[in-house]
Amino acid sequence: MSKAETSAVIFGVGPRQGLGAELCHRAAARGLHVFVNGRTAEKIDAVVADIETAGGSASALLADVTDEKAVNAALEKIEKDGRPLELAIYNAGNNRPEKFLDVTAEVFEDMWKVICFGGFLAAQAVLPLMLKQSSSTPRQSLLFTGASGSLRGKAGFSAFAAGKGALRMMVQSLAREFNAQGIHVGHVIIDGAINGDKVRSRYAEYLDSKGEDGALEIDAIASAFFMLHEQHRSAWTQELDLRPFKEEF
Ligand SMILES: NC(=O)c1ccc[n+]([C@@H]2O[C@H](COP(=O)([O-])OP(=O)(O)OC[C@H]3O[C@@H](n4cnc5c(N)ncnc54)[C@H](OP(=O)(O)O)[C@@H]3O)[C@@H](O)[C@H]2O)c1
Repeated sequence: MSKAETSAVIFGVGPRQGLGAELCHRAAARGLHVFVNGRTAEKIDAVVADIETAGGSASALLADVTDEKAVNAALEKIEKDGRPLELAIYNAGNNRPEKFLDVTAEVFEDMWKVICFGGFLAAQAVLPLMLKQSSSTPRQSLLFTGASGSLRGKAGFSAFAAGKGALRMMVQSLAREFNAQGIHVGHVIIDGAINGDKVRSRYAEYLDSKGEDGALEIDAIASAFFMLHEQHRSAWTQELDLRPFKEEF
């Protein structure tokens, strides 16, 4: 593969068989240098190694997305690298079904920090760099991962839905402010379970009960993200919703 001339950063990368990791592979396959962000060194190092083995270019960017200093330091590394940043995806998120009266204030705040506040910190760090580099790259996108909770608060998901709903509203504000400055701000709602390590390691039976193509494949989700990134600016999509063909909604 020829030397990468522009870069991408994916915030919130975990297991190899996960959406964050797949987004990194896709960006690398398109010839971008990929900054692989996560909070667990072994996991992001494994993704970087896989990309390099496949002939791509990547570096690990260890940072907790809820830590302002760490996020800003990560962006400084990206700027120092010198390759214009053409794509940033905020994918960090966790989930934990819990009856509302069992949700502690700490859990509620922690969930919001990862799902929403980290998206704010990442966007505040990424956008000035993209504006500075706007003439150096043909396209610039800032995309966010949403979930069913972005649209509706189901029983047992109060903290998760509060975070994802707030993230969605923030992203709409960013789109209305930054699209006109040439940055495509988009939100991808994943309305269903992802067939990745995260769910399979904890709820394998649940995934199997969904049957063939009853859970979203990480490869198919990644295609939707890159379709957004590659859209012509005369026809940008702000939000996409993705769900398995048999999911009720
Ligand atoms: N899984 C689903 O069924 C599902 C359904 C709908 C929407 N989504 C959304 O899709 C996205 C991806 O979810 P996924 O379950 O497939 O996971 P994933 O993309 O495989 O991994 C996401 C990673 O984000 C990392 N992360 C969490 N908190 C972080 C922090 N503070 N700083 C840096 N990194 C952090 C975690 O790393 P560690 O592993 O090191 O903690 C986690 O593994 C999330 O936004 C999620 O809400 C997931």
